[in-house]
Amino acid sequence: MMSASTSAAATADAAVFDATAAGVASPRDTIVDAVREALVDAFGEKFRDSRPLVTSATKPEFGDYQCNAAMALAKPLKCKPRDVASSLAEKLGPRLSAICEAPEIAGPGFINLRLRDGFVAAKVKSMVGDGERLGVPRVTNPERVVVDFSSPNIAKEMHVGHLRSTIIGDTICRVLEFRGHDVVRLNHVGDWGTQFGMLISHLKEVAPEAIEDGAEDKFNVGDLVTFYKEAKARFDEDDGFKEIARAEVVKLQAGDAESKRAWGVLCEASRRGFQDIYSLLGVELEERGESFYNVMLPDVVSDLESEGLLEESDGAKVVYLEGFESRDGTSQPLLVKKSDGGFMYSTTDLAAIRHRVTTERADRVLYVVDVGQGSHFAQVFQVARRAGFAPEGVQLQHVPFGLVQGEDGKKFKTRAGETVKLSDLLMEAVRIAGESIRKRREEEGGEGYQADEVELERVSKVVGIGAVKYADLSMNRESNYRFSYAKMLSLQGNTAPYMLYAFARVQGIKKKATEGLGDLSGTEISMGTPEEAALARMLLRLPEVLEDLEVDLFPHRLCDYMFELSSQFNRFYENCPVNTGETEEFKGSRTAFCSGTADVIERGLGLLGMGTLDRL
Ligand code: ARG
Repeated sequence: MMSASTSAAATADAAVFDATAAGVASPRDTIVDAVREALVDAFGEKFRDSRPLVTSATKPEFGDYQCNAAMALAKPLKCKPRDVASSLAEKLGPRLSAICEAPEIAGPGFINLRLRDGFVAAKVKSMVGDGERLGVPRVTNPERVVVDFSSPNIAKEMHVGHLRSTIIGDTICRVLEFRGHDVVRLNHVGDWGTQFGMLISHLKEVAPEAIEDGAEDKFNVGDLVTFYKEAKARFDEDDGFKEIARAEVVKLQAGDAESKRAWGVLCEASRRGFQDIYSLLGVELEERGESFYNVMLPDVVSDLESEGLLEESDGAKVVYLEGFESRDGTSQPLLVKKSDGGFMYSTTDLAAIRHRVTTERADRVLYVVDVGQGSHFAQVFQVARRAGFAPEGVQLQHVPFGLVQGEDGKKFKTRAGETVKLSDLLMEAVRIAGESIRKRREEEGGEGYQADEVELERVSKVVGIGAVKYADLSMNRESNYRFSYAKMLSLQGNTAPYMLYAFARVQGIKKKATEGLGDLSGTEISMGTPEEAALARMLLRLPEVLEDLEVDLFPHRLCDYMFELSSQFNRFYENCPVNTGETEEFKGSRTAFCSGTADVIERGLGLLGMGTLDRL
């Protein structure tokens, strides 16, 4: 443990650093800029536009940040890595002296950088006094970002893949919004296609009353799924019905009023089912389904034609692609118009890209869709680029995620082998959460305990829904993931209940400590113990975690960070008494640590679309 005088020195230092701490750049950004300058200084102008890699150190003995530029440059500069590192460090040291200790060269040529305690203390001080933003700067050049997510299909049940898309997409939107971007949340609902022929024909026969004016609420999604199966069975088995269904598609496309009304009934019924799920999840997004783009499809095809990209193949219109050959070497073109004149899923996506770029003025378009559609998006993006629908400056990005599997690693099904209804799945999590909370409270409350049913229901919902979200978000989204109520609702490990509990605890400590202290902004931070120094550094990482998330769109980074933060908080709390009389001198500073931690966890959970609780 360091002596009190060291901590006093750090506090005094903090005053000196106030000006720097108020700056918006994260320490990492400052370091990256300094490394670039140092590279130019040491090795010439050609490094002016370089973006040197600076990462968080993997172990405390490596300092706070590591830079591997010297190793990357040794070969092109024809020097030994350690020599490059020492020339670089020499130029870097003075540039960073306000925020870092002297650089150290380690191993084959890493440059290790350690933030000065005074700087860290000043940064934490300004973070605690920073209200909502917690030291996270808004981007200086906000982008307009269209996020296409959730996107279930009409007349079909929303499935676990759509659930993942909804949860991941919502978090991505929240993070981008918090960073200051202008986000458009779009639900690209599958509301068009030849399947509507059989659905409408079937509807007209079995429930003609549903199509009458004002009868739109005759169906719910539960009915619709059975309904879909029945229509499909008839379509597959009955040639007469198949003919009727085909004719119905033509009528619908021609805009026949009755067909359109039937279509609207089906859409409305599905929409109600989807909305139930969105309400449970607390997710908001704008529906702009496939049908929205119908009017644009003929133009898409004729513009592909005038760009010289369109070719005929057996009466159909296709675009030949670069880099999409099947194994035998034959090219796999993208079909945009069938020989019967019908358009495709990809044609709609081409129209949507153009609309998002031209009308929505998007700088970045994200598609949170399962990994299975990877080649669909690669193809569509390629054609959109070549046709000039999306200039190079606009980023088109598929944000893939893996499958949801059952606990046994097999397909996710109910015991009876049916696909799981999402509302059942979510309510089951809420039920299990409620049961275990009730049980624990009964044990703790002893005899005469009376549950507050209303509060219990609210708490169970926060925990249950939070658990489903957190379990999904804490995984690398690209992996498949095994859905397990037991795991996601466990109090142990990186789970929602653990984080919610951690928050409630820190919040409780903070509340107790703040009584009589009042406003914490302006509190000088002292870091007399290694635990305080480590917690302070952990708190400062929030802006960098969000910056990284904004680039690679991996929400598990935030979950990992919050989990590490709460472990670090536990170490701090074990060693640094906050609410005992013996440490009056540090009370303000330590309370500020509690406050910073509570606020970061609360903000983090909020970005993951989760609520918090003061007590579980
Ligand atoms: N409705 C599609 C599905 O369920 C997902 C749509 C994704 N978005 C898009 N623009 N293609 O598979």
